[in-house]
Amino acid sequence: MKLIQPIFVHEGDTQDTKLGKDNKLYSLYDVEDRIRADQDLGVTQFLLFLVPLTKDNEPTWSWQADATYKIKDLVKHDATIICDVCLCSTTEDGHCHVHDAQHTQTLLTNYAQAVVNAGADVVAPSDCQKNTVFNIKKVTGATVMSYSAKFRSTFYRGWREAVKIEKAIVRDYQLDVHDREGAIARSKQYALDGADYCMVKPGMPCLDLIEPIKRATGKPTGAFQTSGEWLGIGAPGSMRECADIFKRAGADYLITYGARLL
Ligand code: PBG
Ligand code: ZN
Repeated sequence: MKLIQPIFVHEGDTQDTKLGKDNKLYSLYDVEDRIRADQDLGVTQFLLFLVPLTKDNEPTWSWQADATYKIKDLVKHDATIICDVCLCSTTEDGHCHVHDAQHTQTLLTNYAQAVVNAGADVVAPSDCQKNTVFNIKKVTGATVMSYSAKFRSTFYRGWREAVKIEKAIVRDYQLDVHDREGAIARSKQYALDGADYCMVKPGMPCLDLIEPIKRATGKPTGAFQTSGEWLGIGAPGSMRECADIFKRAGADYLITYGARLL
């Protein structure tokens, strides 16, 4: 099971988050030490959340591209850089789309193309809209890690607080937790659309879906242990225990704020 370390990269200064002293919102300057330290701890795969300083419904993605370029350059060829691609870090209302579905697709595809041009190895669209995987694959040809079974969940609040999105925002485009068949059907569709990797999110609450999605899609399938889950890990050894459980459930990869501890 591969381990993937999320990193928050901030256009402004470094700021603390509730996710702990090693999971800050890092300025482009400070992120260098963070990533070097993580590489020393054995991390080889990073998932970047690129957080701009200002909200903008018409982003050009130039800062996001610059940040990706800098990070890809500093890790040299030793690490895989995955960029989360969504609109919610920049939209004024904090949603993962803008009003017009076509324009949403244009913005997301432009974002993916910008970070791929800047050296991202993988793009991970987390918006949960129809056609995003298809359009990103068609336009960029990049490796796509799809958040293919992503539920509307109470386990995302720490992340939203870190990236300054209203905590209680309701995303009706995310799956309802009762909807097992929908989660499998969506993952199948994203796989047909060109996803190279599938994912369940949140992680531990979706253990039951890892194997079925793997089987239905034929794609390597992993889990995202989300901010709320991470905040529940307190006891020594709990992180290791969780990783062992994800492995037992058949996860091919695990995205966790504690990747550097494993
Ligand atoms: C939205 C997004 C979310 C997370 C990452 N990107 C969820 C949401 O706000 O609905 C959550 C990650 C976490 O909680 O660790 N594109
Ligand atoms: Zn989003």
